[in-house]
Amino acid sequence: MALKLWAGRFSKEVDSKVNDFNSSISFDSRMYREDIEGSIAHATMLGEQGILSDGDAMQIIAGLKQILADIEAGTLAIDPQAEDIHTFVEGELTARIGDAGKRLHTGRSRNDQVALDLRLYLKKQVDLLYGETKALCEVVAKQADAYADTVMPGYTHLQRAQPITFGHHLLAWGEMLLRDLGRLQDCKKRMDCSPLGCGALAGTTYPLNRERTADLLGLAAVARNSLDGVSDRDYALELCSALSILMMHLSRFSEEIILWCSWEFKFIELDDAYSTGSSIMPQKKNPDVAELVRGKAGRVYGDLMGLLTAMKGLPLAYNKDMQEDKEAVFDAVDTAHLCLTTFAPMLATMKVLPQNMRKAAAGGFINATDCADYLVSKGLPFRDAYKATGSLVARCIELGTTLEALPLEEYRAVCDRFDSDVYDFISLDTCVSQRKVLGGPAPENVKAQAQAMLERLKEGTAL
Ligand code: ARG
Repeated sequence: MALKLWAGRFSKEVDSKVNDFNSSISFDSRMYREDIEGSIAHATMLGEQGILSDGDAMQIIAGLKQILADIEAGTLAIDPQAEDIHTFVEGELTARIGDAGKRLHTGRSRNDQVALDLRLYLKKQVDLLYGETKALCEVVAKQADAYADTVMPGYTHLQRAQPITFGHHLLAWGEMLLRDLGRLQDCKKRMDCSPLGCGALAGTTYPLNRERTADLLGLAAVARNSLDGVSDRDYALELCSALSILMMHLSRFSEEIILWCSWEFKFIELDDAYSTGSSIMPQKKNPDVAELVRGKAGRVYGDLMGLLTAMKGLPLAYNKDMQEDKEAVFDAVDTAHLCLTTFAPMLATMKVLPQNMRKAAAGGFINATDCADYLVSKGLPFRDAYKATGSLVARCIELGTTLEALPLEEYRAVCDRFDSDVYDFISLDTCVSQRKVLGGPAPENVKAQAQAMLERLKEGTAL
């Protein structure tokens, strides 16, 4: 039986099923580095404060460094029988250096220890996720720049609505990703705080220097209340929440990719490396990656809901329910890593089919608003212009033609303010290039905004 940190009060071994049930080593062992870093900082401070002798502190630190090196080298396996990673590291240290190892936990509880480890671990994960989201946003901005003047139909209700450019459409996704970056930065701020020294719940009588351990660990603040310090999991919830929103964006984006790949749209084609085939239908090329990303959004929401529900109704301070935090937030983090790092190259390698976009833009009367605006430019009130254009669209449908091809006499029969310059006014290129309003799809706007997005990403001032 592996070491028990709490032996002493108990007269018999814990039931082996309960032992397994209680254990978290299968999922918290991934925090071994943070656990050791936290212990090194704690021992350093204990030594400086004279709570531990210099000799003991030095022995502990050297022992912990060796354990870390051995785990990383693969020469020390983490014992799956240990209750959790904290128990394993302390047990291994004591096995190696004897009594000094038993002094490491002075002025500390696993409650503040686990709260620290999780913060340190997630802080690093946020940095990685930030980098991956940023890389994806860069791909989006570069593709937007490349297709700044590619005309496509913009949609509402999935009905062709008004002409835009593909670059403009992509920049909408870029804006969402910029906000995701902001949320990641923001949740990291509140994660950046040390609970070490909160003890089990009530702090400690030892003269700890909490600022010093925070400093040694590169944490910006210390938890101001010991009960809150050990029982706060807001930072994990905030991360799950930021990742849920990010995944919602990726899921919507995926849905568009899936639509665009279909024969009905054929606006893009995914690279073979990011598509899969069918075992029975030889013609199939499926956007499985996008579908999986769309599906995985659900599991990240599940992680958020699971964690929110686990925390709901918990009295202060630590309760074992909180051990459930890790699988949820780790799953959310792992899923987001997977999706971000697969989505970005899928997008970077997609083939865009501008002719098909233009063909779709040419149908569906998406220049009808511009036709009405033409009449407004000739002095007609917008409501009357709207009505006149409506009858022209009905006439086109009757004749099986488009506004571009409808003869001038037909225009004039509806309203005598129409002249031959209407054809230029309603051409798709004019429709798009005249939408120069801030935030609009005019190619020059899109070019400038794509560059500004890349600039913001470079400076990290996105948000
Ligand atoms: N494995 C535990 C967790 O993940 C560590 C804290 C245990 N504390 C306790 N008092 N049982 O939450």
